[in-house]
Amino acid sequence: MQQALLSWSARTRRDLPWRRTRDPWAILVSELMLQQTQVPRVVPKYHAFLELFPSASVCASASVADVVRAWHSLGYNRRAVHLHRAAVAVVDSHGGELPDDLDALVALPGVGAYTARAILAFAFGRDVGIVESNTARVLARVAGRPLSRKEAQVFADDLVPPGKGWAWNQAMIDLGATVCLRRAPTCATCPVADHCKWHGGPDPAAPAHKQSPFAGSDRQGRGRLVDAMRTGSVSFDRIPEAAGWPDDPARAHRIAATLVADGLAIELDGALALPRLT
Ligand code: ADE
Repeated sequence: MQQALLSWSARTRRDLPWRRTRDPWAILVSELMLQQTQVPRVVPKYHAFLELFPSASVCASASVADVVRAWHSLGYNRRAVHLHRAAVAVVDSHGGELPDDLDALVALPGVGAYTARAILAFAFGRDVGIVESNTARVLARVAGRPLSRKEAQVFADDLVPPGKGWAWNQAMIDLGATVCLRRAPTCATCPVADHCKWHGGPDPAAPAHKQSPFAGSDRQGRGRLVDAMRTGSVSFDRIPEAAGWPDDPARAHRIAATLVADGLAIELDGALALPRLT
């Protein structure tokens, strides 16, 4: 499977600007943007933001208002506040360079398990597996059964070919984004079909739900998000999954924004939370 996916990726890998750099700061900026916004919209914003804030130290010495302004049209402005705080922490605690260490990365404001691993793999070339909505779906299908978050992480880590953390994770993301689609996967052209336990039966990556007019509606997504928030805040990167639309992050984030606008949720520490009843 590793051979097949890596050689497919070598032929087809999307040429995206954050794949042309190993600068950990640029990778952090790109990953935060990609959590809430689709690739084509991120590209111009990524360039514009990095022109203004080319490093953590430039960002840290700017005002938070300037950072929010540069971020503004991407939405979820609290994320820009966190990015600014993360930049300050990087300067104060790490001499201005993002740390090459999972625990130290997760300790940064707004950086969760996914973003930290993305920085490890894409900036430092470390052999960690990243689990986001696309790769989680690929993993469940390859395994042929639904996976818990923890199982998915273990499986993702196990699959990384030694020394290939960067290329492998980019390949997994592309496979999920272009072939192993949620609704209409093109298994006939899939480079890893021979290694995949899922053969068009019940989809292990599909959330189980009964069909009804409610199923698939915006209201259902809102309900799922509110349910998810009852047991704790939902980090931005988990919103698509929590809304039941792991394949449609744009929709999930749009619906999350309506909850905020309606006062049913607040943005807190890089997450969506129920408002405090005070
Ligand atoms: N989404 C999250 N990370 C990504 C990456 N490195 N390339 C494309 N889409 C992504």
